Amino acid sequence: MPLTVVVGGFYGDEGKGKIVSYVAVNDEVDIGVRGGVGPNAGHTVVYKGTKYKLRQIPAAFVEEKAKLLIGAGVLVDPEVFFRELRETGTEGRTFIDRNCGIISTRHIEMDRSSPHLKKTIATTGTGTGPANADRAHRRLKYAKDIPELVKYTADVPRLLNGVLDEGRRVLLEGTQGTFLSLFHTDAYPYCTSKDVTASAICSDVGVGPTKVDDVLVVFKSYVTRVGRGPLRDEYSRQEAENLGVLEVATVTGRTRRSAPFDYDLAKRAIELNGGTQIAVTKIDITFPDAKGKRRFEELSSGARRFVSTIEDRLGVPVTLLGTGPETEHVIDLRDQKI
Ligand code: GTP
Ligand code: IMP
Ligand code: MG
Repeated sequence: MPLTVVVGGFYGDEGKGKIVSYVAVNDEVDIGVRGGVGPNAGHTVVYKGTKYKLRQIPAAFVEEKAKLLIGAGVLVDPEVFFRELRETGTEGRTFIDRNCGIISTRHIEMDRSSPHLKKTIATTGTGTGPANADRAHRRLKYAKDIPELVKYTADVPRLLNGVLDEGRRVLLEGTQGTFLSLFHTDAYPYCTSKDVTASAICSDVGVGPTKVDDVLVVFKSYVTRVGRGPLRDEYSRQEAENLGVLEVATVTGRTRRSAPFDYDLAKRAIELNGGTQIAVTKIDITFPDAKGKRRFEELSSGARRFVSTIEDRLGVPVTLLGTGPETEHVIDLRDQKI
């Protein structure tokens, strides 16, 4: 800890929400803070029998004592923000940066009607690209300009840096995945509207690189991507169904495309993010007998071999394994490996 940054290693939807929720509760974090683009992301958290699809509120909300923050780099859609505030019951401990950019209905309409964005790029239609374009034009409204949001605003960098100086724990969650980055992908223009690697996530919330202790890169045991763009060794729909890897997207309800775990892409993600730890989710999908397991020794030899191959090829320890959708479905190897 004190500052751990969590980012996606592929094309988003690696299960960051679930890993963040586990670390938040297990490590009793003091602050959960969200960087990334905005409500185009959907973090799924399944906690105490309830499923949450979080597009704005940090997935660390499950730790009831944690303060929850949203960084200035993150776009806020007030309607989504207020709905999730109610659903998560986090009023009173959730704050957004005064300089968060605000998505309006006009941005959403543009995202859904522009042939380039809707058809060519196949965006999530949540208004994030047009809002970031307005931001670059310096005509976007900020949270401090919206009367109903003012009481939720805070100086997020000041809060974060203060807590870090006291040695308390901050969990910084990124959204999307490394290869949806506007800067660091070969898939341009099939990417999101800003950089989403670890350095950008830190910049989003106002903490400098010297403050980071760990960068946890989350991979899924196979690769998925939503929308258009290259995907190496992509499975056909039938293959994906047979393998049990066919998924439906959290925000758009579209079918996610899928492919086998890509070691070259993963290696590049470690490089781009300066990864110090790896989490691998959905081990239970690739190795069904792993479902719900909490101890590494209980995994099959195939699953254990998969984990050691990842470590050998990427040169970074695998410290967390996802064995099911619920927050508690994790094998935690951090005590042994770091
Ligand atoms: P973005 O910020 O949109 O990139 O999302 P994300 O990385 O938080 O992932 P998302 O929640 O969109 O997708 C992951 C899916 O896998 C969700 O349906 C989770 O409930 C599920 N999931 C996460 N970890 C595991 C796991 O270890 N096993 C199983 N079976 N499901 C998991
Ligand atoms: P936008 O970010 O809505 O502009 O969408 C641009 C591309 O990024 C599209 O291919 C989207 O499907 C993809 N994308 C954006 N956010 C996510 C996410 O959180 N998970 C998966 N794909 C995403
Ligand atoms: Mg998602």
